[in-house]
Amino acid sequence: MEQLFRKFILPGSGQRQCPPIRYFCAMCKEGAAYWDARYSEQDTPWDVGGPSTPLKTYIDGLTDKEMRILLPGGGPGHELLYLLERGFSHSFLLDISPVVIQQLRQQHPAVPAAHFIAGDFFQHQGTYDLILEQTFFCALPPAMRPHYAPAMHRLLRPGGRLAGVLFHFPLTDAGPPYGGDAGEYQGYFEPHFTQVRLAHCYNSIPPRAGKELWIDLRK
Ligand SMILES: C[S@@+](CC[C@H](N)C(=O)[O-])C[C@H]1O[C@@H](n2cnc3c(N)ncnc32)[C@H](O)[C@@H]1O
Repeated sequence: MEQLFRKFILPGSGQRQCPPIRYFCAMCKEGAAYWDARYSEQDTPWDVGGPSTPLKTYIDGLTDKEMRILLPGGGPGHELLYLLERGFSHSFLLDISPVVIQQLRQQHPAVPAAHFIAGDFFQHQGTYDLILEQTFFCALPPAMRPHYAPAMHRLLRPGGRLAGVLFHFPLTDAGPPYGGDAGEYQGYFEPHFTQVRLAHCYNSIPPRAGKELWIDLRK
C-alpha cells in the first residue's frame, strides 16, 4: 500500500496527495472501497432515517416537476425517494459506492434502476437544473474541495441551481465529516457562480442545530 502512495508524495513536502484515480484510496477515507466498506458494515451515522428537514422544506417549495435534479453522494436515498414520491420524476441519485446503489435497487424494486447511478461525481456527465447537496461536500477529503465548485458548475445548465446544506464547524483532520466555514466556502463558490447565498440553517435536525449553513447558488 505504501508503494501505491509513494508516487503521490509532493516532492520535498512530505505531504501525501490523493491519487488521481480514487477507487483504492481507502486509507485516506475516500473512494468506492472506503464507502463500500461503510455501507457493507452498516456504519452509516449520517443516515437520518428520512429526508433531512432543510432538504424536505426546500423540496416542498419546488413546483416545476420537469426539473432534472441530481443528488450527488446521495447515499441512503431518502431525499431521492421523497422527490420521486412528489412527482419529480427526473431526479437521480449518484453515489461512488456500488454497494449502496445495489442496496437501494434491492430495497426499492419499484423505482427504475436508472434513478440510482453508481459513479464518481467528478467523472459524472450530465446537465441538471438543480443539484441538491447534503453531507456530500463534507465527506470529501479537504484536498478535493477546490474541484467541487467547478464540477458543480459543469453539471448545471446556465441559470441552474446548487442548493443544500454544508457543515459549519471547525475544519480538522478528524473527518469525515470535515467542517468548514462561510468564508472558506465563499472562496470556492464566488469565482464560479453568479449568485452565492449562505445563511445559518434555521431548521436543522436537532443533532446538527447550529452546525449547518444553507447554500443557494446560481450558475
Ligand atoms: C456522509 S455520506 C452522505 C450520504 C447522504 N447524502 C446522506 O446525507 O445520507 C457521503 C456519501 O458520498 C458518497 N461519495 C463520496 N465520494 C463520492 C464521489 N466522489 N462521488 C460520488 N459519491 C461519493 C459516499 O459513498 C456516501 O454515500
